[in-house]
Amino acid sequence: MKYQNILITGGCGFIGTNFINYLFNLKEFTGNVINIDKLTYAGNPNNLIDINEKYGNDRYFFYKTDITDISSIDTVFEKHAVDCIIHFAAESHVDRSIHGPGEFIQTNIIGTFNLLETVRKHWKNSKDFLFHHISTDEVFGSLGNTGYFYETTPYDPRSPYSASKASSDHLVMAYFYTYAIPITISNCTNNYGQYQFPEKLIPLMINNMLEEKDLPVYGKGKNIRDWLYVQDHCSGIWKIVQNGRRGETYNFGGENEWTNIDLLNILCEEVAIQKNKDKDYYKKLITYVKDRAGHDHRYAINCDKVKEELNWKQSVTFNEGLTKTVKWYLSNIKWMNDIKSGQYKNWIEKNYCQR
Ligand SMILES: NC(=O)c1ccc[n+]([C@@H]2O[C@H](COP(=O)([O-])OP(=O)(O)OC[C@H]3O[C@@H](n4cnc5c(N)ncnc54)[C@H](O)[C@@H]3O)[C@@H](O)[C@H]2O)c1
Repeated sequence: MKYQNILITGGCGFIGTNFINYLFNLKEFTGNVINIDKLTYAGNPNNLIDINEKYGNDRYFFYKTDITDISSIDTVFEKHAVDCIIHFAAESHVDRSIHGPGEFIQTNIIGTFNLLETVRKHWKNSKDFLFHHISTDEVFGSLGNTGYFYETTPYDPRSPYSASKASSDHLVMAYFYTYAIPITISNCTNNYGQYQFPEKLIPLMINNMLEEKDLPVYGKGKNIRDWLYVQDHCSGIWKIVQNGRRGETYNFGGENEWTNIDLLNILCEEVAIQKNKDKDYYKKLITYVKDRAGHDHRYAINCDKVKEELNWKQSVTFNEGLTKTVKWYLSNIKWMNDIKSGQYKNWIEKNYCQR
C-alpha cells in the first residue's frame, strides 16, 4: 500500500465519514488517518465514534481544524508525516450558497488554497505524495435532455457553490503544472447513502415522511440528477489514490438518472414498504414549491475513463442502494433526532432544502 499517513479533510461530513469507514474496513489498509474538520453544522464527530474507540490516537487522529486558518493546518503537518491528502472539506449545499455565498468562497476556495500552500511547504518534492481533490459534476454546468459531461467538458458553473468548487479544481490543477505537486481530481454526481445531512434530497424526504410533513419539490420536479451510492464513490476514490495517473481528473457517476419527482415517488414507495404502509401512503405529502434560482436542468456524466483505466464500476443497483439507505435512516432515528435538535432544526423549518 502506497500511503501511510492519510490526511482527510471534512472527515466528519457525509462522504468523508463513509470514506474513513471504508478505509478502516479495507484489509490492505495498514496506515493512519488524520481527520481535520471544522465541525460546521454538517460535521458530526459522533459519526466516527466507533472508529475513534477502535483506533483513536493509535491509527486515527482527529483535529478540530478550520482549513481557512493556514497556521492550524501547518500545526497538523508538523505533527504528522502526511504523505497523502484526500480533500473532502467544503461547504456543500447549493441552496445555502444562494442564500449566503461568503462561506463557500472562504472554505472552498481559500481553504483549498491554504492546503495547497501547506503542501508546497512540507512536500519535499517526493513523487510518493498525493493531493486528491474531491469535486462535483456541477462545475460543468447544466445539460439539456441529451448528452453527458466528460472530463474534457469546459467548466460552466452556475451557482456560487459550483463556482467555488470550479475555482478550487483550477487551483489544484495549477499546483500540478506550476509546482509539479502530484495531484488527482475526481468530479462526481449526486451521492446518496448513510450519514447524509438531512438537508439533502433523500434524507430530507425520509425525515419529512416520518414526520408526515410536506415533501417539497422544486418547480415541476422535472430536473434530472444522476445518483451514485456513496460506497461506490469511496471505492472509486481509493482506486484513483492508488493507481490514478497524476495530473488527471476522473468522473464518477451512477449511470442512474432520475427526475426528482420520479425519484421521490419510488422513495415514497420504499419507505412505505419498510414501514408496512400502503404503497402510496406517503405520496399525498408531495407538494410543489417555487423553483430554485438558476436551477440546473440536468446533470449526467460519462465515467468510461475511470472504468477503463482503473477497472472501477458501481457495485449496487439503485434499488439495492435505496433499500439499504432507507433501512439505515429508519434504524438511526436517534442520529437524525440529534441533528434536528441542533442548528438544523431552524433551517428546515424556514427553508426548503435539497441539492
Ligand atoms: N454529496 C454529494 O452528493 C457530492 C457530490 C459530488 C461532490 N461532492 C463533494 O464531496 C465533498 C464532501 O461532500 P459531503 O456531501 O460529504 O459534504 P458535507 O457537507 O456532508 O461535509 C462537509 C464536511 O466539511 C467540513 N467543513 C466545512 N467547512 C470546513 C472548514 N472551513 N474547515 C474544515 N472542515 C470544514 C464540515 O464540518 C463537514 O464535516 C465536498 O467537497 C463536495 O463538494 C459531494
